Amino acid sequence: MLHDRHLAGASAAGDRPRTRRRAAQVPSPYSINGQAPYMDWRLIDQLRGFTKVPLLLKGILTAEDALLAVERGVDGIVVSNHGGRYLDYAPSSLEVLPEIVDVVKGRMPVLIDSGFRRGSDILKALALGAKAVCLGRVPRWGLGAYGAQGVQRVLEILQNELALAMAQAGRPTLDGLDRTAVRTHFS
Ligand SMILES: Cc1cc2nc3c(=O)[nH]c(=O)nc-3n(C[C@H](O)[C@H](O)[C@H](O)COP(=O)(O)O)c2cc1C
Repeated sequence: MLHDRHLAGASAAGDRPRTRRRAAQVPSPYSINGQAPYMDWRLIDQLRGFTKVPLLLKGILTAEDALLAVERGVDGIVVSNHGGRYLDYAPSSLEVLPEIVDVVKGRMPVLIDSGFRRGSDILKALALGAKAVCLGRVPRWGLGAYGAQGVQRVLEILQNELALAMAQAGRPTLDGLDRTAVRTHFS
């Protein structure tokens, strides 16, 4: 609704109606309707038919959806709130990770992103069962500041911080990282 009003609204210069912009009417080669305001699980079945590459589902935040992803036979999930950019007050991905790992029971890799800024954040996710941590803005900040070298430096900083945090936690190897390294219940 807001989107439509915005497109049809008056111009900043006065009250002349703005020309309504229309999305290009080019059919998607994948027959997927980009205008759909929602997606459902049938889309995953459709995608399966189009591609042979591993299919990872990003944006999972509940155990229920993780189970559906297992049943749907996807190759992995990314626990993510899309960096907090879509829905205010969505749970943090780290907060819901343990319950998701519990229901998945190792049947597919569980990756995570959203809000990872330092090595100790990565330690927490790995200890709570994530197979890998993905980064969105952090490497882009490095890219914006110093180009490719900036990205490289950011990754080195995170790696060093992770190693330091592991040493401080008394877990010298990644295999030694388990839930006992992180306190999750404070009541
Ligand atoms: C500018 C920008 C655009 C993004 N666009 C999308 C998008 O189109 N689809 C999507 O799934 N996630 C999108 N994301 C979220 C990222 O894929 C990723 O989940 C998020 O950045 C991870 O959080 P972090 O930036 O705190 O590491 C976007 C993030 C940023 C910063």
